Amino acid sequence: MIVDRQGRRFRNLRVSLTAACNYACTYCVPDGKRLVAAQDELSAEAMARGVAYLIEAAGIERLRITGGEPLVSPKLETFLASVSTLGLDDISLTTNGQLLSRKLPVLQAAGIRRLNVSLDTMDAEAFRGIARGGDLRSVLMGMEQASQAGMKIKVNMVPLRGQNLDQVMPLLDYCLERGYELRFIELMRMGHLARDSNSFLQQFVSLDELLRLIGDHHEYLQADAPVDATALRYRIPGKGFFGVIANESVPFCRTCSRLRLSSTGWLHGCLSSSNRHYVGDLLDKPRHQALPALQGLLVKALGDKQAVAFSGGATVMKIIGG
Ligand code: 5AD
Repeated sequence: MIVDRQGRRFRNLRVSLTAACNYACTYCVPDGKRLVAAQDELSAEAMARGVAYLIEAAGIERLRITGGEPLVSPKLETFLASVSTLGLDDISLTTNGQLLSRKLPVLQAAGIRRLNVSLDTMDAEAFRGIARGGDLRSVLMGMEQASQAGMKIKVNMVPLRGQNLDQVMPLLDYCLERGYELRFIELMRMGHLARDSNSFLQQFVSLDELLRLIGDHHEYLQADAPVDATALRYRIPGKGFFGVIANESVPFCRTCSRLRLSSTGWLHGCLSSSNRHYVGDLLDKPRHQALPALQGLLVKALGDKQAVAFSGGATVMKIIGG
């Protein structure tokens, strides 16, 4: 097992199935152009082999499928069928929910029990302004159907000053009523926001401000969370839970166990580093050739992690999927 000086190792793998997305969120793509798949994206088979190899070489236990938007990818079904046989402890998926109703049977067939759905507002017009694609009703319907099918739903909201702060309470109450766990993600200095500090600072909403806002309406208590979790968890007695991923206010790099594989075959050991390591060619090789080479690259990828805090990265969420 590869372990660094801080005792960190890779445990959680995130695979970005495609860079394509049917949204163009303001904080992700500043020019508003929808993203298309890269020409050199790997096949579903190669990516699934990548997961199998990384289970062995890095000790991966849990898999999250991201994008882009994973549900737009034609590779989804084949990839899922394959990774669901690998004996992982957990397979989950992050989606914008737009195609959730339609793809629910495929997810269920693969045994997926947990979904993270990105949703930044309950206001249809504000939704169009932020996501610049899709519509609110499809997302809400998709979540309801998935929930009725027994899936556990977490909702990701990025609070943005001037765009959706008025939506913190409506979204929280909506989620509490339905048993979804809302998770606020502090804005991260990713992509264009890593370069444009003004734009970042104008929009950034901190953990403290968020808790004050919620505290005006609900009593809450801090709840336990797993040691390598990114989210702080809070309980509103009698109503449910919410979380905050406070990457700026309470950095969690010290316990980070995440490894990312992009749709074009690059390993990323850290969101805050622009280093990446190409493994696409290794995934077509047999196990005995691929594993030793992978080990070497994993040592480098682990070395890319920040010691304490996320400092910003040119890599964009649209490619690596959070
Ligand atoms: N800061 C914080 N969260 C972001 N996301 C995308 N870009 C950023 C950013 N710059 C969120 C998406 C999605 C999750 C994977 O990451 O909204 O919910």
